[in-house]
Amino acid sequence: MADKRRFDLFADLLVARFPDAKRVFDVAGGMGKLNEALVARGRECVTFDRRHKHLPVAYAEREFTLDEPCAADLVVGMHADGATRVIIEYAARHGLPFAVVPCCSDNSMPYKPWMRHLAALGTSLGLTVEELELPMEGRARVLLGHRVL
Ligand SMILES: C[S@@+](CC[C@H](N)C(=O)[O-])C[C@H]1O[C@@H](n2cnc3c(N)ncnc32)[C@H](O)[C@@H]1O
Repeated sequence: MADKRRFDLFADLLVARFPDAKRVFDVAGGMGKLNEALVARGRECVTFDRRHKHLPVAYAEREFTLDEPCAADLVVGMHADGATRVIIEYAARHGLPFAVVPCCSDNSMPYKPWMRHLAALGTSLGLTVEELELPMEGRARVLLGHRVL
């Protein structure tokens, strides 16, 4: 069972580390709880997920792909599974920062190699990647990707 505090903890981190990012794409956001937490902190947020059942937040009921038009200052994903790699590629394509809390891989890779793979992907795409940890149970390590100025 994933830690129920994860949305507030991640939202606090995002606001602290990306204070100028007003518009956030929350990819693979499930019910939209991270969206709620970000809006409560003064951010605009759109959640992308294929789910039909979700909270009454700004929500795009579809798969997030690299073709999604960009209307964000920051792209993020909490336990975004198969969308995690897409988030990093999307951020690089549009010159955005990203933040992901990886969980399951999209290719059966175990957790630690998956983390290394994602960090290397961000670096290879020209972003500076930083690793942090949220104070919670379960998959809690965070990768932040910053544009190289
Ligand atoms: C483990 S759940 C996590 C949901 C939520 N972020 C949370 O922490 O509770 C993974 C979610 O990723 C969504 N997902 C996976 N690939 C996706 C994609 N390409 N676009 C949108 N949603 C995706 C699934 O529909 C699922 O809701």
